[in-house]
Amino acid sequence: LNNGLALTPQMGWNSWNFFACNITEDLIRETADALISTGLADLGYVYVNIDDCWSATSRNSEGQLVPDPNAFPSGIKALADYVHRKGLKLGIYSDAGAFTCQVRPGSLFHEIDDSQLFASWGVDYLKYDNCFNLGIDPKKRYPPMRDALNATGRTIFYSLCEWGVEDPALWARGVGNSWRTTDDINDTWASMTTIADLNNKWASYAGPGGWNDPDMLEVGNGGMTYPEYRAHFSIWALMKAPLLVGCDVRNMTAETFEILSNMEVIAVNQDSLGVQGRRVQVAGEENCLQVWAGPLSGNRLVVAFWNRCSIAATITANWEALGLESSTSVAIRDLWQHIDLEENAVASFGAKVDSHDCHMYIFTPIAAAHSEI
Ligand code: DGJ
Repeated sequence: LNNGLALTPQMGWNSWNFFACNITEDLIRETADALISTGLADLGYVYVNIDDCWSATSRNSEGQLVPDPNAFPSGIKALADYVHRKGLKLGIYSDAGAFTCQVRPGSLFHEIDDSQLFASWGVDYLKYDNCFNLGIDPKKRYPPMRDALNATGRTIFYSLCEWGVEDPALWARGVGNSWRTTDDINDTWASMTTIADLNNKWASYAGPGGWNDPDMLEVGNGGMTYPEYRAHFSIWALMKAPLLVGCDVRNMTAETFEILSNMEVIAVNQDSLGVQGRRVQVAGEENCLQVWAGPLSGNRLVVAFWNRCSIAATITANWEALGLESSTSVAIRDLWQHIDLEENAVASFGAKVDSHDCHMYIFTPIAAAHSEI
């Protein structure tokens, strides 16, 4: 969507994956505080996004949405003011149907009123869900909210949450700043790998202004191991997915923080070229030894070695699969060890990767030395 936003994928936090409906204004304020005090905000995680269940179960007598009076007694404008004072942005949630998935009022046929209300509160981001959609085509339900948001005069990030219905990559670039390519993620290896594969299919449709959204991060929620979360974060970054933290940032372990705060991996996600990396090479049983890669600015490449097998194994990338001439000499930086490898590589490069772990590298081709006359 050409609204000046999403030149790189959005980064921030969202309440749903960990808290579901257990949300309050105190939680949102404490999360904003924690994003600042941990340094995550400085690394780019600036959207504080409230998901489903912020609103009361019915509209008021004027037909307006109202915040749940128990959970958000001070209202959303007060929260927006609070996060803005900290230099952060506030996101809210509604639904392109009669109700949200948790049966709060939806915004279908209320697009103009609701978008004006959100703008008057100072909201910066709308996630727009797909429940109770009356069987109407999403291509008819999502554009009216785009137009209504645009008409408010406030610049509001528009995140389509249509769960991959009707292959949104094919039509959503002019509608939203990101579109979900799949059903909901859950905090398991099986879900995360399945979603990565589904999202991979749409790589060519992502770019500045509009991104494929394979759903929010589960890093830190407890259902996967440290290597699995490292793989989750690496592949989401490489796929130019939104990096929306989904854990309780007030109580992160050192490992969770180490993953989410890896500036070198974040820089891959936020690279100005904006090309979604994809799976380029597979080997092993059921193709479980995988190389994912994509171009970065400055003629560089990001290359991830993802071992989805149940035992440690060596993964080797061939220059041909990466689109490099086999004679090209490549300098390699390891983004998880934070080191430059000593030797340049030519033609191929291999490394041993633990089961379910992921290595991530930046490959910089070295210009061939001029031969002497
Ligand atoms: C379905 C969405 O896909 C989730 O991300 C979340 O927003 C829930 N609905 C909330 O009910």
